[in-house]
Amino acid sequence: MCGIIGYVGSASAAPILLDGLRRLEYRGYDSSGLAIMNGSEKIETRRKSGRLENLRSLLVEQPVEGDCGISHTRWATHGEPSDVNAHPHSDQSGKLAMVHNGVIENYQVLKDQMEAEGHEFSSQTDSEVLAHLIGRCYEKSTEEDSHQRLVGAIREALSQVSGTYGIVAMHADSPGFLVGARLGSPLVVGLGKGEKFLASDVGAIVAHTTDAIYLQDRDLVCLTEGDFRIENVDGDLSEYEVSTVDFTPEQAEKGSYPHFMLKEIFEQPTSIENAFRGRLVDDQASALLGGLGLTPRELRDVERIVLCGCGTASHAAMVGEYLIEHLARIPTEVEIASEFRYRNPPLDKNTLVFVISQSGETIDTLAAMREGQRKGHRVLGIVNSVGSTIARESDGGSYLHSGPEIGVAATKSFTSQVTVLALLAILLGRMRHLSVDYGQKMLAELRELPAKVDKILLQSEHIRQIALKYVDSPGMLFLGRQFNYPTALEGALKMKEISYIFASGHAAAELKHGIIALVSEEVPSVFIMPKDAVYEKNVSTLEEVKARKGPVIAVTTEGSTQLERIADDVIYIPPVTECLSPILASIPLQLLSYHFAVARGCDVDKPRNLAKSVTVE
Ligand code: AGP
Repeated sequence: MCGIIGYVGSASAAPILLDGLRRLEYRGYDSSGLAIMNGSEKIETRRKSGRLENLRSLLVEQPVEGDCGISHTRWATHGEPSDVNAHPHSDQSGKLAMVHNGVIENYQVLKDQMEAEGHEFSSQTDSEVLAHLIGRCYEKSTEEDSHQRLVGAIREALSQVSGTYGIVAMHADSPGFLVGARLGSPLVVGLGKGEKFLASDVGAIVAHTTDAIYLQDRDLVCLTEGDFRIENVDGDLSEYEVSTVDFTPEQAEKGSYPHFMLKEIFEQPTSIENAFRGRLVDDQASALLGGLGLTPRELRDVERIVLCGCGTASHAAMVGEYLIEHLARIPTEVEIASEFRYRNPPLDKNTLVFVISQSGETIDTLAAMREGQRKGHRVLGIVNSVGSTIARESDGGSYLHSGPEIGVAATKSFTSQVTVLALLAILLGRMRHLSVDYGQKMLAELRELPAKVDKILLQSEHIRQIALKYVDSPGMLFLGRQFNYPTALEGALKMKEISYIFASGHAAAELKHGIIALVSEEVPSVFIMPKDAVYEKNVSTLEEVKARKGPVIAVTTEGSTQLERIADDVIYIPPVTECLSPILASIPLQLLSYHFAVARGCDVDKPRNLAKSVTVE
C-alpha cells in the first residue's frame, strides 16, 4: 500500500522516479507526486490526484530538474485522494520533503500539539504530521553537520510516533542526501554505480540495478550517490546482506498483453511448473521442500497444522486443509491472518504454523507470523516475493517461484500456492500412511498440470463469449463442494474485486439453507463441478437452480456432456485427480471474471479502492 521510490545520483531524477512509480502503481494509485532537489538547496514538489498520467502531464507543464529526489504513489488511509493529500509532504519550514507508507496512529495528538505551537497543516494526512514532527526536531537541533542534523531529527521524531512507516526524506540543507527508515512497511535499497535508490519494492529499481538490500524493521539508511550507511533507528550499526534480484525488468512488464492480469493468467503453465520443479522425488514417491528446514523426525512429529493467510491466500489455505487432511491425515485448520493475530488459539508444541502470502508483506499475515513466533512456535512461510519481510523473518518455508505478480487480482500465485501445499501434503503423507503407488500417482498428476492448463487457456475466447452474455448481471453465485468449495470462494472474490458486482461463493449444498433466495433469471450461478465424488450431488443442486429459472454456467470435466443439456453454458477442464482439481478449475473462473470486468469497462489491473500489497491494518 503506497509505493515509494527515491533516487540520488548524477542522472535526471524525474524520469527515473516516474518510471519507478509506474512500476509501483499496483501498490496504490489514487494520487502521486515527487520532490526534486537540484543542488541549489531548493526542493521543488509536484503532486497530483488521480492516476500517474496526471502527474506526468503536470511535469510536462511544470518540469523539475535535479539529480536527487523522492516520489510516492498513494493508497489513501487518512484524507481523501486529492492534490493536497498527495505526497511528498513538507514541514513547517518548507525545507524538508518526505514520502511515507504506513499509518501514524498517534498523529492527532501530535498534530494538536504542533498546531498549538503555530504549525499550519495543509492536508488531512497523518504523513504530513510526521513531516512536521521531523522538521520540528530539526529546528530544535544544535547539531552543526546538516546530514547528522537530519538523521538525528528523523530518529527523534520516529521515537515519538506509534504505528508503521516506510519513509524517505530529504532536506534542502543537505543536497544529494536521502534518509530512509522502516517499521512495518517495506523498503529496499538499490545499489547502482554512482547512484542509489530506495523503493518499496525491487520491481521499481530492477531496470537500474540488481543489487539490493532489503531493510529490516527499525533500520535507518543514509544514501549519497557514492555511499550508503545502514544503522537502526537507535543509532547502532545494523547488519545487512546484499541480494541479487531474481527477475528481469521484462518480467515485470505487460509485454503484448493488454493487462497484467491476463498475462499472469497465461503464465500459469510455467508458474505451476516452477512451483514443483526440482521438488518431485520419484524414487521416494514423495516431495522435497528443503527450505522448511525440518528433519524427518520433526516432520513425523507434526500433529496439527495451522494455515494462515488473507484473501486469495486464505482460499489457497482452505484447499491446503483439504489436501493435507486427505493425503496426510493431519488435522489442519485455516485461520484468517487478521483474526489469528488477535485471537488466542490453542497451539501446542506439535502444531506447525504456515503463513501464506504472495507479497510476503501483508501486514496481518506478518503480524500473525510474529504472534506465532512470540509464543515460541516455529512459523514457516509459503511466499512468492523473494527477500520480502515474511520470507526473511519466517523460520523456513518454500518460495512459489512464480515471478512478479503485478495485477492486483491474484491469479498465478493462487495456483502456485495450491501446488506447493499439494507438495507439502504429499511429503507429510508419505511419512505416514500414503502408499508408494498413490505418491507416484500424485507426482504424475502434478507433472501433467502445465499441459492441462494450456488446454484450458485455449478456451479464453469461449469464456469471453459467456462473460459477454451475462455482462449486465447484477450479481453472481459461485458454488462448489469439497476441494472446490474454496475454488468457489476464490471465483467470487475475483469477480467482485475487479468487476464490482456482488458475487458470493458457497458450499453448493448450502444453497437450500438461504442462498437459493438469491437465485433469479438475472443472477447466474457458476457451478464448479468436476467429475468427482460429489458430481452427482452437484447435478441435483444445479437442477434446483434451473427449476427456479436461474442461469447456470458449469465448469466440469471433459466428457461430462450431460451438463450441456441442463446448464446454459459449459466450460470444460481436462480430467485431473480430485484433490488437484482446484488448480485447473480456478483458471476458467479467473478468465470469466477478467473478460466480464473488461466488458464492463473496469480497469482490471487497478480495481477501485484496492492495492496489491496490504501493508496497513
Ligand atoms: C486477491 O485477488 C487479492 N489481491 C487479495 O485478496 C490478496 O490475495 C491478499 O491481500 C493477500 O495478499 P498476499 O498474498 O500478498 O499476502
